[in-house]
Amino acid sequence: MLPLKGLILSGGKGTRLRPITHTSAKQLVPVANRPVLFYGIDAMAQAGIREIGIIIAPETGDEIREVAGDGSAFGVQITYILQDEPAGLAHAVLTAEPFLGDSPFVMYLGDNLLQGGIDDLVTAFRANAPDALILLTPVPDPEHYGVAELDGDRVVALAEKPPEPKTDLALVGVYMFTPLIHEAARAIEPSARGELEITDAIQHLVDTGRRVEPHIVQGWWKDTGRLDDMLEANRLILDRLAHRVDGELVDSQVEGRVVIEAGARLERATVRGPAVIGAGARLTDCYIGPYSAIGEDCVVERAEIEHSILLAGSSVRHLDGRMESSLLGRNVTISRGDRQPKAFRFMVGDNSDIEIL
Ligand code: G1P
Repeated sequence: MLPLKGLILSGGKGTRLRPITHTSAKQLVPVANRPVLFYGIDAMAQAGIREIGIIIAPETGDEIREVAGDGSAFGVQITYILQDEPAGLAHAVLTAEPFLGDSPFVMYLGDNLLQGGIDDLVTAFRANAPDALILLTPVPDPEHYGVAELDGDRVVALAEKPPEPKTDLALVGVYMFTPLIHEAARAIEPSARGELEITDAIQHLVDTGRRVEPHIVQGWWKDTGRLDDMLEANRLILDRLAHRVDGELVDSQVEGRVVIEAGARLERATVRGPAVIGAGARLTDCYIGPYSAIGEDCVVERAEIEHSILLAGSSVRHLDGRMESSLLGRNVTISRGDRQPKAFRFMVGDNSDIEIL
């Protein structure tokens, strides 16, 4: 078998994470202060994959290229592949065909997180040599995903976001393919949402007598497309944090598993883990509670924050109530004004969502 290649899909519009994704790619939204995309690259590197193609979109491609680089930081070699229109996951595979050639490959949706990586999968794929291997997990809301029907250890039918799902087995955004998928992707027609669906291409493999094997995910899986999923992913990753304090503590306390990056400074602050505080952050007279990820150069002063993600450069000052379950983009400021009349004042981007006490 030719060596396995990796294909990470990092295009898409990220509409469900607006307004954050108005200015940044959804795959770069940080989970425990690292872009979601990095966890997929890590999983591939860990499974021994050396050549990774990353599909990028015209709007966010440059940013992704800048952040992930040539892959040397991960011990892999990254090739960027431009998909000029968001025409579906099967279209992305076809766009990557010159890079993939005749190699078998792992396809990984760049906003997905999979506990335990993909080593087991790669082992199963090599041992059983199916024509394709898909990952499945039971979910309470299968109508939001691709859904599979099984007959023993065979996949017999697939449907993309069916209004009335026949099972609760959702397709996880990680797939293993042989080059047969290219032919299947060429054979299908766009779906009702106008995309060449990977789900339909896999169904085409099934219809033409190919062997598609299911693999049920054992650990957790998260598609980080929505705010709640993002916060949950943050929780799950923070839960496996190893305690490390490299920043400066002045009259401050850290409790539990906490990472304070070098260059961060805490003064009369309490951080209760699991939590991560980015480099250059300034925390003064404040409380940071469990499951918080405070990005680089953030400022928190006389405020309480819990179960939240703050992207780089944001500041929260002088709040009466505790802020929780929140996601702040880059360079957001929340503070108390002293002007008259006493009123709320906002300057907020499109599709923002604010709840006040
Ligand atoms: C895509 C796939 C779907 C899969 C999901 C997993 O959906 O089309 O089959 O279940 O990823 O994250 P999308 O997130 O593009 O709507």
